[in-house]
Amino acid sequence: LVKVPGLGTSRVMLLGLGKEADLDSLTLQKAVKSAASQLVGTDIKHATFALEDAAKKLDPLAALRDTVLAVSYGSYRFEHCKTVAKAKKKIALNKVSFVAEGKSAAKRKTAVKNAAAVASGVEFTRDLGNLPGNICTPTYLANEAKKLAKEHAKLKVTVLDEKKMKELKMGSLLSVSRGSRQPAKLIIFEWKGGKAGDKPNAIVGKGLTFDAGGISLKPAPAMDEMKYDMCGGASVFGAMKAVCEMGLNKNVVGVVPASENLPDGDANKPGDIVTSMSGQTIEILNTDAEGRLILCDALTYTERFKPKTVIDIATLTGACVVALGSHASGLMGNDDKLIEKIKKAADDSSDRVWQLPLWSDYDRQLDSPFADMQNIGGKEAGSITAGCFLARFTRKFKWAHLDVAGTAWGSGAEKSASGRPVPLLVQYLMDN
Ligand code: BES
Ligand code: MN
Ligand code: ZN
Repeated sequence: LVKVPGLGTSRVMLLGLGKEADLDSLTLQKAVKSAASQLVGTDIKHATFALEDAAKKLDPLAALRDTVLAVSYGSYRFEHCKTVAKAKKKIALNKVSFVAEGKSAAKRKTAVKNAAAVASGVEFTRDLGNLPGNICTPTYLANEAKKLAKEHAKLKVTVLDEKKMKELKMGSLLSVSRGSRQPAKLIIFEWKGGKAGDKPNAIVGKGLTFDAGGISLKPAPAMDEMKYDMCGGASVFGAMKAVCEMGLNKNVVGVVPASENLPDGDANKPGDIVTSMSGQTIEILNTDAEGRLILCDALTYTERFKPKTVIDIATLTGACVVALGSHASGLMGNDDKLIEKIKKAADDSSDRVWQLPLWSDYDRQLDSPFADMQNIGGKEAGSITAGCFLARFTRKFKWAHLDVAGTAWGSGAEKSASGRPVPLLVQYLMDN
């Protein structure tokens, strides 16, 4: 070991941040993530990050927040399903400090506190996403929601079972769960951090705990990744957890329709026509376009909260992965101001989005000869026609849709839930 003069530490890790001119929030996060994942592989117990000087090009509070988030992200491991014998070498790292001097001490403290809350939400979302479909069922999700409510006095959780959903005439959502032995759940979070009469912002996430496609069965390769089809719902769980932990002083509603989509003798068949809670009828031409079928009833249900705005989050279309890859979530909506606010929150949280248009020309692709609409719009513009479908159920409020099919998890050697778009959602909820 070589002592570095003037430093009271025995080891120094040097971190390359690339060319200063190219340094941004994302490069900083990438570097810190890899540093953190190196650290948890060692027996080091305490590490101090001193990056403010090197990253002085960035806003000091943003750089501090990015560093906190990236340390959490890089040190994440998912080992819930490994036996003690095989793995679970305890991570030695138990304390991380940050050297920062920019802005006031109070502001730095708040930045760290909020970043830690977001990190905790991201971690929750990643854990739920990474759990396999046989463990993370709709009932499991409902229980996790109830557990969270027990820990936070201002959080109320309600779970609707299939009987209750039948009474509410959620014929579209229930048509999907009919093909599964696992009963569907509609999970509702109400965070009462604001004044009693204040209208909430609502977030609604697709909680499809396993998507085999139904009778329109998916091909076998990589089908395991469809355990991640509840990541939109999991991002609602994560955002709610972050909101609880930072004690946000605003009202927030979260809604997660949870179901499986499997082939079965009682499953939806191509050509079936169902009636949604809104009263509109839907011809199901492809049972694999099930996300929109569960979301439409959840969105209609959300009307009762008289929300200021509604954002839905869903791993909705493979077409979105083709269009935007894994770097940006697809953004659509019916209100330009809301869209601008989401773009701003996305920039501020380095959780990127890219907007797609919802023109009426696309909407017409959903016209059906037999029902009010069909659930698919043909080969062209699959992400947009999925957005147009949801738009038919969101006319009563300001609404935006995030297609996170490409961003919610990574494949291959890096296979893991990403926790996106929790940072974006929390930023939006804080700012609005
Ligand atoms: N959950 C899938 C979308 C998906 C596929 C997300 C691959 C990420 C990776 C969704 O339920 C689905 O199957 N969508 C269909 C729609 C089609 C039938 C119009 C799709 O994208 O193929
Ligand atoms: Mn599907
Ligand atoms: Zn799906």
